[in-house]
Amino acid sequence: MNPRHIARVVTGIETSDGAGVRLRRSIGSQRGLYHDPFLMLDEFGTDKPEEYIAGFPPHPHRGFETVTYMLEGHMLHEDHMGNRGELGPGGVQWMTAGRGVIHSEMPQQQEGRLRGFQLWINLPAAEKMKPAAYRDIPAAEIPLVRFEGGQVRLVAGRLALGSSTHEGAVHGISREPLFADVHLEAGGVVTIPVDAGASALVYLYEGSARLGGDDVPPRSAALLGAGDSVTLHAGASGARMLLLAAQPLNEAVVQYGPFVMNTREEIEQALADYRSGRLTETA
Ligand code: CO
Repeated sequence: MNPRHIARVVTGIETSDGAGVRLRRSIGSQRGLYHDPFLMLDEFGTDKPEEYIAGFPPHPHRGFETVTYMLEGHMLHEDHMGNRGELGPGGVQWMTAGRGVIHSEMPQQQEGRLRGFQLWINLPAAEKMKPAAYRDIPAAEIPLVRFEGGQVRLVAGRLALGSSTHEGAVHGISREPLFADVHLEAGGVVTIPVDAGASALVYLYEGSARLGGDDVPPRSAALLGAGDSVTLHAGASGARMLLLAAQPLNEAVVQYGPFVMNTREEIEQALADYRSGRLTETA
């Protein structure tokens, strides 16, 4: 196997979004700073209610997917299709905006800690206008792959470890991304195959780890270079990190806020459709 190394670090930057939710944004923190097809990665995590309580009131998306992965706390999401679900610790909401979705994500707690991630994954031109779809995956449905020295919560994609191959909870998604939450005990080591050619990154959110001889930067996106595997070594207090990988689209990206299309004209169309109430119209 040809191990990947850290090629570039996108440092997480404190910012806020929605109606004032404090979060730490790495990919997507500056215009054009994406890792095709990953457009944005936010980590939210605070125990101060005033930093999350206002949530993300109704807002639109078109042209990509939003993945919300909760570590702690509860959020209620609702969308224009009538979907309604509570997202709890370890749960995932996988929203394919496609042609258009209008949804809200609101904390369901007055106190305590709210912690998790939101990832935006781009859709290819041929799929940007497909009907919106939504999947709610409770924590119990996410496969737990155990190995000596740690475990992986396999949200999406295929994971080959040793002689066995495991399937994530989410299937049939455009580009078949790998979304793995890797937990290593102190000193734990794991080698995970990652498709050559895929864009891959590691986001360390707890503990410390090394990858290919380098320290993995905390709470930042470590973008990986070429190769077909990733070897992670945990430090003295263990490590928790997301490993994300997907084939790049290699298409033009034109973004205006919550709309991500291929051309400026398509963005103007999205804005016009949103203003006239046709964003989420089917057929
Ligand atoms: Co949203």
